[in-house]
Amino acid sequence: MTGARITGWGTALPDKVLSNVDLESMMDTSDEWIRERTGISERRIGGLTSTLAIEAGQQAIERAGVDPASVDLLILATSSADQIMPATGPTVQNELGLNCGAFDLNAACSGFVYGLINGFGMAAIGYERVLVIGSDILTSYLDFDDRGTAILFGDGAGAVMLEPAETTTLLGSDLGSDGSTRHLLYIDHGGHLKMKGKEVFRHAVRAMVDSCQKSLDQAGLHPDDIAVIVPHQANIRILDSACAKLGIPIEKAAKVLDRTGNTSAGSVPLALADALAKDWIKPGDNVLFTGFGAGMTWGSAIIRWDA
Ligand code: ACO
Repeated sequence: MTGARITGWGTALPDKVLSNVDLESMMDTSDEWIRERTGISERRIGGLTSTLAIEAGQQAIERAGVDPASVDLLILATSSADQIMPATGPTVQNELGLNCGAFDLNAACSGFVYGLINGFGMAAIGYERVLVIGSDILTSYLDFDDRGTAILFGDGAGAVMLEPAETTTLLGSDLGSDGSTRHLLYIDHGGHLKMKGKEVFRHAVRAMVDSCQKSLDQAGLHPDDIAVIVPHQANIRILDSACAKLGIPIEKAAKVLDRTGNTSAGSVPLALADALAKDWIKPGDNVLFTGFGAGMTWGSAIIRWDA
């Protein structure tokens, strides 16, 4: 069995900014309401899941300094694939010059955490370089007459490269799902994103807290041992509430949602890259990743930083 560690990361956001003030002219809402209820000021919109994934993946490959031809596997977490078939992973594989298997993983906003844990699992059975990308363009499924959903989402992508390590840096992990709540958040073929916001909120906090606690227990760690928490960026009040219940100060939470909105599978790696750019994460730090999303799905992972 082989250990793995993160050796590179990258991000991509579309150029076009859609601010809360822009939304005021499109629907009955206000910048103040959106900021107070969600923590979001603006989001980026546009692009394709594949083009954003390629940009983020390219950066991760370059930062890790690996030869694209030496990558053994690409996992693309997305719920907004370019087409129903084929999967978008092979398009990204081809454009990045990879010579390996590639597949899409759909766990909605939990997708990156699912992909990360799967990446470590594949590394353990000998896949030496695993590129994990989260990329989504959920704004293309929004109904801009529905102010309860249209204000929340943005488009974006992030990626990490996993490479061999003497011992694994994945100290604890947990994945969960509950299909009985699938009606709370969904997109039908040809339809718009539909959500029961209040219920998603309630489930999200409980699922993330329970999952993080399971990962902490598995790792034999206490919340005080976590240097940085990298949560899914859905709503600042969800982050506040989950951190308070976990006993992790909100100051330790990576945050980009004020600038990006909820970018679904892109959100956790975008927040990770922001924390790294701010020098929040040092070698030896315990970093707690967590996400939740449609399905409902949720997950968490604790990684000892060794990049
Ligand atoms: N602007 C102004 N007023 C609004 C808006 C808006 N954009 N949206 C709703 N309102 C109004 C409502 O109509 C309601 O008015 P009323 O009291 O006259 O009926 C009032 O504001 C309160 O509405 P609520 O829906 O109760 O507002 P809430 O505080 O629950 O916030 C929100 C709504 C922001 C959607 C919140 O519930 C939330 O963030 N939920 C979680 C959503 C989430 O995380 N989704 C992503 C999941 S991840 C994935 O897989 C994609």
